[in-house]
Amino acid sequence: MANDLMDKIVSLCKRRGLIFQSSEIYGGLGSVWDYGPLGVELKRNVKEAWWKSVVYSRDDMVGLDAAILMHPKTWEASGHLTSFADLMVDCKKCKKRFKAEDLSDKKKCKECGGELTEARPFNLMFETYHGPVKETAAVVYLRPETAQGIFVNFSNILDSSRKKLPFGVAQIGKSFRNEITPGNFTFRTREFEQMEIEYFVNPNDADKYYKSWVEERFDWYLNLGIKKENLRKREHKKDELAHYAKSCSDIEYNFPFGWSELEGIANRSDFDLKQHSQFSGKELKYFDDKTNEKYFPYIIEPSGGVDRATLAFLVDSYNEEEVKGETRVSLKLHKDLAPTKIAVFPLLKNRPQLVETAKNIASSLKKKFVCVYDDTAAIGKLYRRQDEVGTLFCITVDVQSLEDKKVTVRDRDTMQQERIDIEKLEEYFHNKL
Ligand code: GAP
Repeated sequence: MANDLMDKIVSLCKRRGLIFQSSEIYGGLGSVWDYGPLGVELKRNVKEAWWKSVVYSRDDMVGLDAAILMHPKTWEASGHLTSFADLMVDCKKCKKRFKAEDLSDKKKCKECGGELTEARPFNLMFETYHGPVKETAAVVYLRPETAQGIFVNFSNILDSSRKKLPFGVAQIGKSFRNEITPGNFTFRTREFEQMEIEYFVNPNDADKYYKSWVEERFDWYLNLGIKKENLRKREHKKDELAHYAKSCSDIEYNFPFGWSELEGIANRSDFDLKQHSQFSGKELKYFDDKTNEKYFPYIIEPSGGVDRATLAFLVDSYNEEEVKGETRVSLKLHKDLAPTKIAVFPLLKNRPQLVETAKNIASSLKKKFVCVYDDTAAIGKLYRRQDEVGTLFCITVDVQSLEDKKVTVRDRDTMQQERIDIEKLEEYFHNKL
C-alpha cells in the first residue's frame, strides 16, 4: 500500500509536470531530478513560505546567498575533507560499489557473488577544478551544505548589519553529495536544495534557543498543513551526534517508506567559528558590549531540505475519494503552496463570447494571482486536471454569465459552487487567499 502511494505520486509528478527525471531522453541521470512547470511553482512557494517565516517576520534574522564554490580550506576547517566519508567496498568482478554497513557478507558481492575489496573511506564531496589547469592545487568542491557560506561570512554580516546577539542568518541554496545509497524519489538525491539557518547566541543561552527553534520549525510544517499524526521529533542519542554537535533533534515525517528526517536542528557549539578562526587566522570572536567580553558565539542550526519538504507536502496532501462512481484525485495543498491558485474555463469552447469573457477574466486575475486559462477539454476533465495539481479555485463561464455577469466559482476542497459577480472576483479571491 505504502509503495503503491509512492508510485502514484511519482507517476502524478511526471504526468502533470511537477517532477521529471534529469536528462530523461538520455536514459536519465541517477538520483538527480528536474522540477517541471508546476513543480517549480510548488518548490518556489515552499521556499517563499520559509523565507517569510524565518526572515521577513522576525527582527533578528537576515538573509544570505553565498556561492556554491568556496575556498578549499573551508572544507579542511569544517572537517568535511576528513570526516565526510562513508566506508565503501567494491566488487572486483562487476565493479559495483556498496556501503560496508549495508552488507551482511563483507567478502562476497550480493549482486554477482564476486570478491569484494577491503572497506575504505569514500568522500561524498564532488570535486572539480578552479580555473583552466587540472592540477591538485586547483581542486575545489561543490559545497555539501550551505552552512559554511554563512560561517565564513560571519564578520562581514556582523560588520555590515550591526546585529547584536542573538541573531541569525538564513540561506537557501543548492548542495551536492555523491550519496552512495540515494533513492526514494527526491528524498535522497545527489543534487538538492537546503534551507539553513545559523543562529548565533551567547553560549549560556544555547540550550534555550535550541529548544525554541525545535518548536518553531516543527510548527512551521503543521501551519502549512502537514497532518499532526505524520510529524514527530526525535532527539539524537549521544553516539549519533555529528562531530560538531552538542545536541540535535530531527523533525521526521511519516513517508510511505517509513519515518525519515525532514529537518535537523543542532546545537553546533562554537566548533565552526573556532575552526574557521584557526584555519584563516582571522578573529571571529564577538565583542559583547553588555558584558565587555569577547567570545565565540554558539550556533543553533535548523537545517532543512527543500526537496524533502516539497515531497512531504505532496505526499501529505494526496487525496483519493469516490465521487459519483469515479475516483477523484486531488492535492489538498495549503493555499500558500498550491502551484496555481485559480483556473478559468469557458463551459463551451465553441461559443466565442464565453471564450472571450473567460480569457478576459483570466488576464485580469493574473495581475494579482497565479491564474491559468484552459479550454482544451470538456469541463469535467478540466476540473479533474486542476484537482490533481491542487488548484484552489475553478471559475466556469457559462451562457447565463453573459446575461447576469456572474460566474461559477468551485472550491477544490468542498467542491461547493458559488455564483459570484465578475466585477467582485478580485475582492472575493483577495479575501480567500
Ligand atoms: N548543515 C547541516 C546539514 O547539512 P544534514 O542533516 O546533513 O545537515 C540537512 O542535512 C537537511 O538537508 C536534511 O534534513 C535533509 O532535509 C536535507 N538533505 C541532506 N542530504 C540530502 C540529500 N542527499 N537529498 C535531499 N536532501 C538532503
